[in-house]
Amino acid sequence: MRPIRPVIAELKPSGISQVTALGLGNPDVLPLWFGETDLVTPPFIRKAASQALEDGRTFYTNARGILPLREAIRDFHQRTSGADIAVERITIPGAAMLAVVTALQMVCETGDNIVVVSPIWPNIFQAAKVVGAEPRLVRLEEDWAAGRWRLDMNRLFDACDGRTKALFLASPGNPTGWMLTAYEQKTILTFCRQRGIAIIADEVYGTLIYDGAAHAPSFLTIADENDAVFGINSFSKPWAMTGWRVGWLVHPKSVENAAAAMAQCNNTGSTHFAQYGALAALSPEGEAFRASLVERCRAGRDVVEKWIGRQNRVRWMKPEGAFYGFLHVDGLKDSLGFCQRAVVDDKVGVSPGWAFSLGDARDDSYLRICFAQDAAKLEQALTRLEGAIRKL
Ligand SMILES: Cc1ncc(COP(=O)(O)O)c(C=O)c1O
Repeated sequence: MRPIRPVIAELKPSGISQVTALGLGNPDVLPLWFGETDLVTPPFIRKAASQALEDGRTFYTNARGILPLREAIRDFHQRTSGADIAVERITIPGAAMLAVVTALQMVCETGDNIVVVSPIWPNIFQAAKVVGAEPRLVRLEEDWAAGRWRLDMNRLFDACDGRTKALFLASPGNPTGWMLTAYEQKTILTFCRQRGIAIIADEVYGTLIYDGAAHAPSFLTIADENDAVFGINSFSKPWAMTGWRVGWLVHPKSVENAAAAMAQCNNTGSTHFAQYGALAALSPEGEAFRASLVERCRAGRDVVEKWIGRQNRVRWMKPEGAFYGFLHVDGLKDSLGFCQRAVVDDKVGVSPGWAFSLGDARDDSYLRICFAQDAAKLEQALTRLEGAIRKL
């Protein structure tokens, strides 16, 4: 007898961890591989969580999250995107990763498929497989002339069949920084309504954008409260809180009870005192920090842009949001091998493009870097990367 389901037995570490395994924790390696800033969570957030710990907030909470935090999240949506989200639609199951798993568990059964716009962060492939669904990728196309990634709507819709339960779209995207337009979102919502397909809208980088707007176009502003739209969000990125594991799910109002049951059986809620840290992140001080992080990322993006200007084999579609550079390197054909050699020989940590596309050969010419870093450190890491590319 097999001790575990075959699909679980077949799961493999992501392409990113196959690189980080060679240098994680090595102080000589300059890491650009993970999706996080090098900043420690700001003191006022840490203090709020410490205070909650001091106050004995160590017990179970409502599995859907403490009410003040859910109310503050409602206000956050209102303030940033204008979306009017009732508190009943907000559940804090743990981090955004768990919100994704919860949404997939809610909509998929074994044998179903979800259509995913790629390149995309690799955890989504694993999460789909864990719930028994097949991830079907529809790759964005490079439009080098326009300097943008482009989503072909016809290909997106053609990829759907009778077993498609959801479309998964991360906008702004990881690793591309691509953003859906409001018009595209309306078209997708209309299609999904007609076909009875859910939308899992991963908006964890929704406020990390560079066009001066407060929020990227959001499905939550156009969906009705009972549309099958699941919004994924997180404290991890805008407030430098990746290790806290707090994020949230916006779900249809009609599934409130199911969301409560899922929160109970998946994690029985998020860490009690961590939720008070998250509450502080949504204060005016947190808003100021978030704005400063966007500026730090913009500066990092400028550093990468200048560096690319001096390269003859590297180009990118300048990201509209998020904090990644998805770099196309002429002549690169084995991004995993390259990244593994770069850690060991050149002491720089970057992620292989291959990891974001389930092996699409076109993406083996890409590398992902996270530029939410100190500018001097970023420049040093890019110099090392340049050395690694020269050896290709
Ligand atoms: C698009 C996207 N969604 C979700 C997550 C997960 O966020 P969390 O740390 O809250 O689990 C990530 C993390 O890299 C991400 O890039």
